[in-house]
Amino acid sequence: MSFNPSDPIAPPHGGELIHFEITAPFKVDKFIDIELSPRQRADLEMIFVGAYSPLSSFLGRDDYHCVLDSMKLSDGTLWPLPITFVVSSGELATGTAAAKLHIQSVHVATMIIRERFPVELHQEAQSVYGTTDSAHPGVATLINEGDIAIAGELFFHQPVRDFRGSEYLTPTETRSYFHEQRWNSVVAFQTRNPIHRAHEYLHKVALELVDGLFINPLVGHTKDDDVPSEVRMEAYRTLLDNYYPRDRVLLGVYPAAMRYAGPKEAILHALSRKNYGCTHFIVGRDHAGVGDYYGTYAAQEIFSTLDPSQLGIEIMKFEHSFFCLVCEQVVSKRTCPHPKSSHLILSGTKVRELLSRGVALPSQYSRPEVASVLAAAYL
Ligand code: ADX
Repeated sequence: MSFNPSDPIAPPHGGELIHFEITAPFKVDKFIDIELSPRQRADLEMIFVGAYSPLSSFLGRDDYHCVLDSMKLSDGTLWPLPITFVVSSGELATGTAAAKLHIQSVHVATMIIRERFPVELHQEAQSVYGTTDSAHPGVATLINEGDIAIAGELFFHQPVRDFRGSEYLTPTETRSYFHEQRWNSVVAFQTRNPIHRAHEYLHKVALELVDGLFINPLVGHTKDDDVPSEVRMEAYRTLLDNYYPRDRVLLGVYPAAMRYAGPKEAILHALSRKNYGCTHFIVGRDHAGVGDYYGTYAAQEIFSTLDPSQLGIEIMKFEHSFFCLVCEQVVSKRTCPHPKSSHLILSGTKVRELLSRGVALPSQYSRPEVASVLAAAYL
């Protein structure tokens, strides 16, 4: 079987995987130099590798408004979040025709500016995050970002790649790998937190049902109190070596930044995993959530409002799972009859607090190999 990156088993969103050639920088008049923020850099990388297909650039005005109003691009394609490139109007002189985009002073890409339009701060916050509260990390980023979005063709002069480890795989590479493995069904797992036993439970239940598991930890920008990606990746390597069937699992990073947009971000997560070639996507409790902004299962419920043929990836929904001391295994309320007092449930905040006090994480919560990676990182 020859390999086609737009494989019919899991066609990319919009039908074709976006692909860029690297081109030499060219002369532009009236340009602005921009050093990318962590989120801009992550979005640029997602566009560059085709993970945000069918986007081949940041959103223009019509797409921006359609996405905020109806979660669709102006051509009707499902798209949940506005991936825009925002600057402050003070920086952008009238007549600026191009933006030279830099990462640590290296000129990586050029945008030919075709459009500039105001960011609808209030409407965007409400549409994307369901709140205008500036304590929400996504809203805080939006407020600090600037007031004008610019859009136009992108030309890449350098590959955009932040993560340096060997688990860096583009959608074309994962598609090729799944093809070689002859996996007809692959479930993707998004995560931004250190792996714990409830995550492992979701993986293993899913592996009972599909051919392969793609563990795809997010390594782009996260809020300051989330555990750094290098530590999370180390925990994954250790766990995979000891507890997973290696021939049925692929570990590869997801270079996006977290937006903490809960339900709508869950849709973006699912669509981009479709671009990586996956047929299924796991959504558990409070997916991509933060604080108490979203209901525990809001990120699952939003998928029932979508046309499955537009979504094009199957959602595997999981109840909140935890260790039951009586059952002596990870369970959910669908499988365990025991009272809450038998359940070991630790919040992310509690875990960080234990680690920073040097207290070992209970083995029912975290495998000892993972607990020691985390403990070492907090020394
Ligand atoms: S997230 O921001 O990437 O969603 P996290 O890494 O904690 O955060 O979660 C990864 C995935 O596992 C999400 O789909 C989430 O809903 C799910 N999940 C995390 N913990 C649990 C749990 N205890 N029970 C069920 N699902 C969970």
